[in-house]
Amino acid sequence: MLSVEENQRLTQVGPGSPMGELMRRYWHPMAATAELDENPTKEVRLLGEDLVLYKDRSGDYGLIGRLCAHRRVNLAYGIPEEHGLRCMYHGWMYDETGQCVEQPFEETVRPESRFKDKIKLPGYPVENMAGLLWAYMGPTPAPLLPRWEQLVWDNAVRDIAITEIPCNWLQGQENSLDPVHLEWLHRYFGEYVRSREGGEWKWGQATPPMRHQKIGFDMFEHGIIKRRVLEGYTEEDDDWKHGHPILFPNILLVGSETQSALQFRVPVDDTHMFHVSLYTWKAAPGKEAPKQDFVPYRYVPLYEDEKQFVVNMTFNQDYMCWATQGPVARRDLEKLGESDRGLIMFRKLLDEQIDVVEDGGDPINVFRDSSQNEALSLPLEKIKFGMLRTNYIPLEGGETSAVPEIEEVLRGWADFYGTPVGAEKLPS
Ligand code: FES
Ligand SMILES: [Fe+2]
Repeated sequence: MLSVEENQRLTQVGPGSPMGELMRRYWHPMAATAELDENPTKEVRLLGEDLVLYKDRSGDYGLIGRLCAHRRVNLAYGIPEEHGLRCMYHGWMYDETGQCVEQPFEETVRPESRFKDKIKLPGYPVENMAGLLWAYMGPTPAPLLPRWEQLVWDNAVRDIAITEIPCNWLQGQENSLDPVHLEWLHRYFGEYVRSREGGEWKWGQATPPMRHQKIGFDMFEHGIIKRRVLEGYTEEDDDWKHGHPILFPNILLVGSETQSALQFRVPVDDTHMFHVSLYTWKAAPGKEAPKQDFVPYRYVPLYEDEKQFVVNMTFNQDYMCWATQGPVARRDLEKLGESDRGLIMFRKLLDEQIDVVEDGGDPINVFRDSSQNEALSLPLEKIKFGMLRTNYIPLEGGETSAVPEIEEVLRGWADFYGTPVGAEKLPS
C-alpha cells in the first residue's frame, strides 16, 4: 500500500514531476517506422505533451510541438517538405528542432525581419531502430538508445503490436512483477472464457492447472529478474534457473529461444499508456531468416464493443485487468500479500532512481558509452513453463501479422530440433 502522495510520485509523468523527470531520461518508442511510410505525420502524445511526429521528404524524422506557433493549428495536417514540416495554414515552416525557419508572407513584406528566429516549438530527437521510432524528451546531451540484443539481431524477423490503454503506465509494468496472475488470469480465467465461447462447460479439463509453488525476484544490472517454480517442475527448470527480466523502468522481456517480445509501457500521460510489443523471431542456429523490407505493425483493439474488453487473447487479458484498475490504480486502498513481493521491490527501485535523478545523476539503463552498448544481452528462459517444444501453441493469425516470414523461421527451428514447432503465445 502506498499513500496518496507516494502513488502520485510514481504515476504522474508531466514535465517537472518526479516520475516525469525520471521517464525523460529514457528513449521511448512512439510509432512503428512503417506508420510514417504510410502517412508522413502522426499525432503523438508522450509524457503529457502533445506533439507531432513527421518524416520529411529527405527521409529525416522530427518530433515537434503539435500546434503551430502562429495561430495554433494542428501540424499533423502540415506538409512535409525536403527539410522540415510546413504549416498548412499560412506556410510557416519548422525544422526538426522546432525552430521556425520560414515565414513566407512576413519575409515578402519585410525581408529584413528576423521574426522567425524568435519562434521555436519544442523539438525532440528521434531515432529509428528495429522497426520503431523512438523519442527522447530529457535534458541534453541525449544518452544512447539502448541496444537490447533483440533490437539489433540481424538474423531475425520482427512484428509489432501496439495497444493504447486508458490507464497509467505503472499498472502495465507492475503486472510484470506479478507472476501469480499467470495461473489465474491466463489459465483459469482464460480457460473459463474459452469454455464459454465453445458453449460447453469444460472448465478445468482442457488444460492442466498451472500452480505456482515458489516465486523469486533478483536485482540485476538492468532491473529485476522474475523467477517461478510451477507445480511439477523444479528450480532446475528454466523458469527458475534463468527467469526473465523486467528492464528498468518500463520494459518487460518475455519469451523463449524461438520467440521473444520486448514490451514497452510508454506513458502517454498520467492516465494513458502506449503499449508496444516488439516480437522477434531469431533464426535457428545455422539458418537464415528471410529479409524483411519493413517491420509490419498492427494496432490491437482493446474492446470487443463499446462495453466489453476483448478477453480471449492472452495479452488482452492483461490489458483488461490494467484498465479495470482505473485510470490510476488506488494504491492507497490495495491490500498486498506474498504474491506482491516483486512489485513492492520494483516500487522501491523506482523511488530510489527518482532520487538519483533529483540528485543530478543518471539512473540505471542510461547508457553514454557506445562500447558498452553494442548489443546488451539479457537473461531469458529457453523453454518456458517446462514446455516441450512440441507443446507450443500453433500460430494464430490474430496475434501476429508477419505470418509467412515467421513460419519460415519456425520451420528452421523445427528442422534444427527435428520436431514441429509453432509460435508460442507467451503470457508473462
Ligand atoms: S497557423 Fe500555422 S502558419 Fe499560420
Ligand atoms: Fe499476463
